[in-house]
Amino acid sequence: MSFPEHPNTPGGPNGNGVHGRARILTLPLVLAAALSLLAAGREFTSFDSVKPILNAQRAQAPAELKGADAPQWLAWARRRDQAIRARLEQGDLDSMVNLLLSGTSFTQRPRIPMEGLTEASKSGVLKARVDDLVAGLRSPGDNERLLFLRRLLHSQGIDPEAAEGPRQSGVFILKNLLRVAEERKTLAARAAEVDRREPPDDPASLLDRSSFFQDRGLSLDTGIIPNFSIEQTMRDLKARGVLREGQVARVAVIGPGLDFIDKNEASAYDYYPQQTLQPFALYDTLIRLGLAKPNALALSILDISPRVLEHIRHARERAAKNTGYVLQLPRDVARPWPPALIAYWRALGDRAGSDVAPIRPPEIFGGMETRAVRIRPDVVLACDPADLDIVVEHLDLAAADRFDLIVGTNIFVYYDAFEQSLALENVAAMLRPGGLLLTNDRLPEAASGSLRLAGVTVVPFDAPGASVHLAVGWYRKQ
Ligand SMILES: C[S@@+](CC[C@H](N)C(=O)[O-])C[C@H]1O[C@@H](n2cnc3c(N)ncnc32)[C@H](O)[C@@H]1O
Repeated sequence: MSFPEHPNTPGGPNGNGVHGRARILTLPLVLAAALSLLAAGREFTSFDSVKPILNAQRAQAPAELKGADAPQWLAWARRRDQAIRARLEQGDLDSMVNLLLSGTSFTQRPRIPMEGLTEASKSGVLKARVDDLVAGLRSPGDNERLLFLRRLLHSQGIDPEAAEGPRQSGVFILKNLLRVAEERKTLAARAAEVDRREPPDDPASLLDRSSFFQDRGLSLDTGIIPNFSIEQTMRDLKARGVLREGQVARVAVIGPGLDFIDKNEASAYDYYPQQTLQPFALYDTLIRLGLAKPNALALSILDISPRVLEHIRHARERAAKNTGYVLQLPRDVARPWPPALIAYWRALGDRAGSDVAPIRPPEIFGGMETRAVRIRPDVVLACDPADLDIVVEHLDLAAADRFDLIVGTNIFVYYDAFEQSLALENVAAMLRPGGLLLTNDRLPEAASGSLRLAGVTVVPFDAPGASVHLAVGWYRKQ
């Protein structure tokens, strides 16, 4: 089974996107939404909503929660929140390994695919790349990825510039490479196991990714493909009459990610500044499809990663000074894309900004087509970041402030079935009745819960030499 890593609001209660509270009726909706988000506190999933899940999932629920009362539940939720956030560091270390193997900003040596590791080790290419990375960490210049990794090494007690620094850094990088290589073997075995199963006819089975990444670090990787799947899904929802014109006003993106360098060599680039795509791509899609009205669309960006949140805050600061946000959109023509994806790539951003000259990729990437689009400051300012762990927390929103649409792709696959049930409960608490969650994972529905899988959009991904399907499930709040 191949899991492409990235396969992948109707208004308030009155349905017209006008905020319900009189005191802010006169403010533009985007500002009103930002205000209400600021005012909204975070809260842990209530024990009342967790109890039925604990009863129904006795086998999957953690042993410490057997017979738990409300204070024990809250104590567990706090501990789990910390444990979840701690997984971000391992994701960062994985990114260091991805940069070692595929980065081009600190070295001219050939890139190393994971399956070519032994050969690269024998030929000396691996050692040369490690040496170049360590040299880069000692003198990072203004390379933001190297600067970040330097801080990461410092947090591990390693100073690349100290006398012993180069040796310690090299050992640390190689140890992490070995860990990641082992982990990939385990994941490949898991995928082969899933592959051996008879494929069921049910399209929803495409969402069964079985908590595939539940024991790995939390990655921030992101790219164009999940946004393509979401646009195709929203076209489908519009055609079916599930979503109507101008209906969407309040949206949340859970876990937009940050493109540092992808784990998948085919889309691993570090020649442009780190970027996030999903909030801007979603805005673009909603306007393109007429599902939302320009200037009447507010997006809450919910994440636990300080890097993601800081990145968006920084973009907003620049937008407040009227500077847009530039997205680089590379396309390797040697890797076939279906025509619909190429059409999406060509249009991406045209409702949220305008084309600018793209950064030229380094020579090593022959045959690349590139685009870049500058997202307008008003669009950036419509995106409001907030720290939230969707597994154990939700925003405490007044009924009139709840979301019409929540998008979360390539996030729930990092959690086990019990955590997924909790996440579904938290999503439900933030959606208005009839509101939708779009995700590329099947989530366990509690009998007591209010979110139900209402349908699945299957997005064919047929290109010469490749035929897979991406799928997005739509969960509707009862
Ligand atoms: C692999 S990235 C996916 C990015 C993007 N959605 C996509 O599909 O390309 C996962 C994102 O989810 C965020 N994330 C992971 N666990 C989370 C949690 N419990 N609550 C909120 N955000 C979470 C990560 O920080 C990261 O931004």
